[in-house]
Amino acid sequence: MKQIAKEQMMMQSLDIVIGKYEDDCDISGWEAYVGCKLQMPIDGSFASINEVYICKEEIQKRFIFVGLGKKAKITRKKLREAIGKAVKGRKEEVAVLVDSFAQDVFPCEQVAYDIVFMNDYARYVATKVGKEKEECKDVTLLIDQDMSKVSEQAKIVVEAINHAREWGNLPANYMTPNDFVEAAKEVAKLDGVTLEILDKAELSKLGAGAILGVNRGSYHGAYLLTLSYMNGKEKEIHALVGKGLTFDSGGYNVKTGSYMLGMKYDMCGGANALAAFEAIAKSKQEVNVIAVIAVTENRIGPDGYTCDEVLTSLSGKTIEIKNTDAEGRLILCDALTYAQQKKATKIIDLATLTGACVNALGANYTGAFTNSEKFLRSLEEGCKETGEKTWYMPLDEDFENQVCESDVADMTNCVIGASAGASLAAAFLKQFINEGVEWIHLDIAGTSDTTSEKAYACKGATGAMIESIVAYMRKQ
Ligand code: BES
Ligand code: MN
Ligand code: ZN
Repeated sequence: MKQIAKEQMMMQSLDIVIGKYEDDCDISGWEAYVGCKLQMPIDGSFASINEVYICKEEIQKRFIFVGLGKKAKITRKKLREAIGKAVKGRKEEVAVLVDSFAQDVFPCEQVAYDIVFMNDYARYVATKVGKEKEECKDVTLLIDQDMSKVSEQAKIVVEAINHAREWGNLPANYMTPNDFVEAAKEVAKLDGVTLEILDKAELSKLGAGAILGVNRGSYHGAYLLTLSYMNGKEKEIHALVGKGLTFDSGGYNVKTGSYMLGMKYDMCGGANALAAFEAIAKSKQEVNVIAVIAVTENRIGPDGYTCDEVLTSLSGKTIEIKNTDAEGRLILCDALTYAQQKKATKIIDLATLTGACVNALGANYTGAFTNSEKFLRSLEEGCKETGEKTWYMPLDEDFENQVCESDVADMTNCVIGASAGASLAAAFLKQFINEGVEWIHLDIAGTSDTTSEKAYACKGATGAMIESIVAYMRKQ
């Protein structure tokens, strides 16, 4: 991270980004630094970009004014979007004048955090197969106070998020279950982190029959990965549980038409759990946290699992298969059981679990289900900080009863003909949560990736809920 005093900004060859609120008609404050009059009228309407070039003696400079709209209407999310729009797609490194965004609206520390964060978030582009990875250009903060602490924290979080985006964006043949294990091994190099890898043979010894059932149609292996970071002394153990379906073809209930497109993103729950864990461990938070990630493909093969089969999960509960495309809950239920065997008492699971959640909430809201409203409210405190949106969804006995109706097993993986698919999936998962364990299920099917290019971010995997979980954990 680089930082220089405002007085020195004219001595640098960097382009300079300046925030401009609509309410501040007077830009003479900035002109004092620039050392000459700026001729152009700059209105400051939200997300407008105005570039001003100045040639003075030997110095040529470019000022990039980004509009922030009216002060009364600005939010942290909008602030970040404006910063992102100012830097996205630029080839050069830039410097950003922190005060111009802070004004009397945001603390400078928060603006500095957001600048460092958005610089790397907005400039990230998915790596093309066979091409070099494009490194993000650094950003320089123009400010007189020392911002190294917040910058460092922002860098840790955005780096982890960009890892998750990269893992998500990789095509399924470049992010196989084995590749996912390699990604986890990288994270496990961090101080204080251990990694346990359970493969098919070990899962079968344990009796994790649900994830193994899903795996049977796949040429690749199945893994249950457990990363552990215990830095919270007597504190309880949090688990981040993730769905790592590196590709979801639907299995014998094959996805038809265009429904199979984008199913490489079906590992985003696992990727985001891994990345949140990475950020927590890297920033040395004083918490006890494990990440338990179930990894496999859902494919068609000679021994692929089929409808009418009964699988015995790690918990001992039996599950009648009614649809092989409802595989996420199957791999997750074994991961949830395993997390509790590892003594986790607070669990957050992340999964691209249901199309029904996308239908209900769209692309901007993560569906949130819980058995502890208090726990969810405290996670929502983290969301308030980051601007990520969740919506509290219904989960009650009625849904649970529907899931637990089967002639041959304790439950079914799909209630045929029923609606409220997102709640039914959550009710299925709840069957695996022990008494006294608090649990939140985040259905990120709509938020994990986007097909629309934004002014402040590229399309593809988003890293949904990573930052909010890290923010929540910081307060534990
Ligand atoms: N991975 C899908 C859910 C999904 C759908 C994620 C669309 C992102 C976009 C999941 O495994 C799935 O196929 N769910 C089924 C469940 C159904 C068979 C009960 C669904 O939502 O249709
Ligand atoms: Mn599926
Ligand atoms: Zn799936």
